[in-house]
Amino acid sequence: KASAPLLHKKVIITAGPTYEAIDPVRFIGNHSSGKMGYELAKQAAKQGANVILVSGPSSLTIVDDSVTLIRVNTAQQMYDEVHKHYDSVDVGIAAAAVSDYRPKVVADQKIKKAGEEMTIVLEKSPDILLSMGQHKKNQLLVGFALETENEIANAKKKLEKKNLDFIVLNSLNDKGAGFKKDTNKITIIDKAHNAKSFDLKSKAEVAKDIINEVIAKLNA
Ligand code: C5P
Repeated sequence: KASAPLLHKKVIITAGPTYEAIDPVRFIGNHSSGKMGYELAKQAAKQGANVILVSGPSSLTIVDDSVTLIRVNTAQQMYDEVHKHYDSVDVGIAAAAVSDYRPKVVADQKIKKAGEEMTIVLEKSPDILLSMGQHKKNQLLVGFALETENEIANAKKKLEKKNLDFIVLNSLNDKGAGFKKDTNKITIIDKAHNAKSFDLKSKAEVAKDIINEVIAKLNA
């Protein structure tokens, strides 16, 4: 590891879904497995980095001396953990599928069944990556985008809005890509709006491509 490209670099990665409580037994969540984030952590560690992996509820784990795994449940907890470390990192990668909205009020007791309809009022959860972009000093910042229409244009908008160095667009136009899958097909778009499209690959190989892009940008 003596000549590893990410030696002495600190990388923070978010992964997995978040669970937002409705009451003590129920939550709002999503089907994110966390695979992409965990593979990125493995790959960054392999290239010599010290990694902090902040993960929402996931069945995955990681055992690597160079990776510190911090488990959280909610977007707020993920936000707090990220910002505890953000000032000291060289690279931030947001691969978590954060719940965009959360119940405005969390009931302290299990909600009883009553009428034919019920309403849960939601409020926005903190946008972790947006705040990382706003507080950016020298960090290289990477986000993901999953779009169903105007993919490239929307990804570029997100890249600007969140002040990213590059964004990884997951193509939905491919059966092997995305949630719960072992494979992914990506396009990387950088600040200069250069786009690079990659073939359908395993998430481990996709992670390698993304970490290689990180290394290239750090050395640019
Ligand atoms: O805005 P959108 O959710 O599509 O952007 C996706 C990117 O922003 C992903 O990198 C995701 O991890 C990050 N994100 C976040 N906090 C949120 C929502 C999204 O960090 N509340």
